[in-house]
Amino acid sequence: MSGDIIDLIEQDHREVEELFTQLESEEGDKAALLQQLADELIPHAKSEEQVVYPAIRKAVPQEAAEVHDGVVEHQHIEEMLQQLLADGPDAPGADGMLAAMIAEVRHHVEEEEQDLLPAFKKATKKEEREELGQRFEERKEQVRSSGG
Ligand SMILES: [Fe+2]
Ligand SMILES: [Fe+2]
Repeated sequence: MSGDIIDLIEQDHREVEELFTQLESEEGDKAALLQQLADELIPHAKSEEQVVYPAIRKAVPQEAAEVHDGVVEHQHIEEMLQQLLADGPDAPGADGMLAAMIAEVRHHVEEEEQDLLPAFKKATKKEEREELGQRFEERKEQVRSSGG
């Protein structure tokens, strides 16, 4: 039993925000924090795209455009994160890119939590969201172990 997909997604978001707080505090090993962020964020985003977004599109067709925007945002966020990982946190421009990436993730999380997930919740039953929660967690594990 994994729980309701909405709770699981929101828990992941809180973990990511905790990493942002640490990155912004300028304390600790930034490169290690960025790697931790990637290990958390990339499986989360891929599993959303493969498991959750299709379910939202089906249950709430009027959110299709918002879902599409979400995928584009994921891609842009991942590009910035991969660039930061490749160049390292001390590279020229890395601070600006980190701030831009954090801002985009916060905006994206807000859209999911304020718009997409509440609309999905209204359109679905608890059992359906729990079944999806299980698939979401399984998919994240698969992405983690396959690296993509
Ligand atoms: Fe997302
Ligand atoms: Fe998310």
